[in-house]
Amino acid sequence: MNPVIKGTQTEIPMAPSNLRLMNESDERFLARADDLVRLIRRLGLQMDHELLDVGCSIGRLATGLLAGTDFRGRYVGFDVMPRHIRWARRHLAPIAEGYHFRHVDVRNDRYNPAGTVEPKDLVFPARSGGFHMATLFSIFTHFYKEDVDLYLRELRRVLRPGGRVVATWFLYDDDRYEAALTSVYPMTHRLDEVTIYNDADDPLRAIAFHEDHVRAQIAAAGLEIEKIEYGEWAGGAGPEFQDVVVLRRPVDPPPSFLDRVKGKVRRTLSKR
Ligand SMILES: C[S@@+](CC[C@H](N)C(=O)[O-])C[C@H]1O[C@@H](n2cnc3c(N)ncnc32)[C@H](O)[C@@H]1O
Repeated sequence: MNPVIKGTQTEIPMAPSNLRLMNESDERFLARADDLVRLIRRLGLQMDHELLDVGCSIGRLATGLLAGTDFRGRYVGFDVMPRHIRWARRHLAPIAEGYHFRHVDVRNDRYNPAGTVEPKDLVFPARSGGFHMATLFSIFTHFYKEDVDLYLRELRRVLRPGGRVVATWFLYDDDRYEAALTSVYPMTHRLDEVTIYNDADDPLRAIAFHEDHVRAQIAAAGLEIEKIEYGEWAGGAGPEFQDVVVLRRPVDPPPSFLDRVKGKVRRTLSKR
């Protein structure tokens, strides 16, 4: 029997500790879930929004929403680990209207090395232009830079104009390089000129990118940076351990005079 906690509307099952990432206690798991919910509310999530949780695992963020809020929008979470998604579908989805959990078999050297779908072939299980916010907590900290590119493009596709991404990264630049080398995850190995990492045998355990490169990737994907809150991992003020980057899909510019005339001509001709 899974332990349960009292949410705002119902009792919420808690995932068994062997499915939790760090094997955390119930208290620690819930405290982190609550921190993440506070963070995304501060960054603009409203209770009737559509939220995409990329790499949702057992639904830590979903648990936080169910436990501490009256979120009544739509939540879609997806992950590459089948057991975690199976647990969330079996235990959370039935008690949480509007919450959906999807499995995608994308390859990731650390979390799903035998995945049958290459990252370049993944289409997020989410409709275009549908989401007010997408979250990626501790996801880009386990990706190679090429996969970050692909995910940024998909994020732009699924966001509404004006919608936001809240994603964590390990970012370094010349000023923070020393701190990155001596952090809790000392990033002492170099993969290429913009990528450093912590564990020689497992590069995706914790991987950091040069901020200039990430800024260029974000711009190339058609997203804008709204703000960066530098995390404690490399001496930043936090409040998170990792760097929190808030991105925005620009609102599409209104059609120009010429486009409006062309549209009118097209509509007139199609009526004939
Ligand atoms: C460190 S965990 C973070 C989980 C969750 N976001 C949280 O904060 O509790 C990283 C998660 O990313 C997932 N993941 C790895 N590669 C992925 C991919 N290509 N697409 C989506 N999720 C992925 C892993 O399965 C794992 O659940």
